Amino acid sequence: MIDPQHRWRVTYQRPIEYEILNAPGLFQPENLALLSAGRIENGRRFVVVDSNVFRHFGEALQAYFDYHRIRTKIVTFPSGEENKTVDAYLSILYELDSFPIHRRDEPIIAIGGGVLTDVVGFIASSYRRSVPHIKVPTTLMGYIDASVGIKTGINFNGHKNRLGSFEPPRCVLLDRAFLRTLPRRHILNGVCEIIKLAVIKDPHLFHLLEVSGLASIRAHFQDDPGGEMLDRAISSMLEELEPNLFEENLERKVDFGHTFSYGLETRHEAHLLHGEAVLLDILASTLIAQGRGLLSECEVERIFRLVHRLGIQLNTNLLDAALMWENLQERVEHRNGYQRVPMPNGIGNCIFLNDIRREEIEQAVQHLVQISPYFSIVPA
Ligand SMILES: NC(=O)c1ccc[n+]([C@@H]2O[C@H](COP(=O)([O-])OP(=O)(O)OC[C@H]3O[C@@H](n4cnc5c(N)ncnc54)[C@H](O)[C@@H]3O)[C@@H](O)[C@H]2O)c1
Repeated sequence: MIDPQHRWRVTYQRPIEYEILNAPGLFQPENLALLSAGRIENGRRFVVVDSNVFRHFGEALQAYFDYHRIRTKIVTFPSGEENKTVDAYLSILYELDSFPIHRRDEPIIAIGGGVLTDVVGFIASSYRRSVPHIKVPTTLMGYIDASVGIKTGINFNGHKNRLGSFEPPRCVLLDRAFLRTLPRRHILNGVCEIIKLAVIKDPHLFHLLEVSGLASIRAHFQDDPGGEMLDRAISSMLEELEPNLFEENLERKVDFGHTFSYGLETRHEAHLLHGEAVLLDILASTLIAQGRGLLSECEVERIFRLVHRLGIQLNTNLLDAALMWENLQERVEHRNGYQRVPMPNGIGNCIFLNDIRREEIEQAVQHLVQISPYFSIVPA
């Protein structure tokens, strides 16, 4: 029996507000963006930077803090999915714990790709029960996806992002000049997530990719159409994330391509990047959607042609219908009892399916393997 005299109710609302800012020339001394979200005078900063980024920009980064007389501890981190581990999380925490910073006005700075910002975000959310952090994405994946939302995570017990949190950053600072040194395969990896948004919700973005995607990839997105595509992809992503930051609604368009890809990515960690796994999922889903009359033959052809035109190489031999079916079951747990699989309903529109059958996945995989040589989607 509940005693009505002795019960308490706690309600508290915490507004979430952060900005995603274009801050070109981030390490130029006159640019205060990196320091503006915290104390500058006698300030200190704990900085975690991707080792490849440090190789290219480390000197400029150190000179920047020296110029502003900020005491720093710069920790380099070797990214890649294989480093998104509990061990990596703990080893950075030990470094952090040995460098004194104020709890509120000396934000941790995370400079790197999605792996680094996910790990450091989780550190920020768990150290002293949350300290502020700033994200500076340096990969395309980070720029248009991993850094713009509030999810953090590390892999655990064979599962991707099994440990993590929702932790808003103080701000996200964008400088697309970082993409200049990003290897082409990682540029394409980010393009896969742009394709996702284009197919599921943004027909104009799809058109932009068709018209200027290839040139922008070649220019590492330093050209004007590339800038337009990046801005559009971020806006499109935020339209979905902002009203559902904590994922109360489990029907999420941005989960397109993130149903069957999970197990593929974990099994083939050494060979398959996140975006590549997502694109394999997208192509299989495209064929499932066609089978259900949700996409016309012409729309399916447009999607495959785009992937071909952009020069993305995928290894369809990695597809495994049994694993993908298993994954769907796992996603049902994750999505609280229903499949809730986003599917394109025409390019730029979306519906959610809850009744995908194993045979549909098997047929889609078979079909994909058959047609992949025609679209040059063959082993890289
Ligand atoms: N939190 C989210 O909402 C969210 C969303 C999408 C993806 N993710 C996560 O993002 C991760 C993938 O991120 P990623 O693709 O950025 O991988 P990553 O962080 O491993 O970076 C990829 C590679 O690029 C190198 N690199 C980074 N910046 C560079 C630069 N400017 N120049 C040269 N090399 C550079 C890194 O050292 C690494 O080798 C996955 O773990 C995925 O789960 C998270």
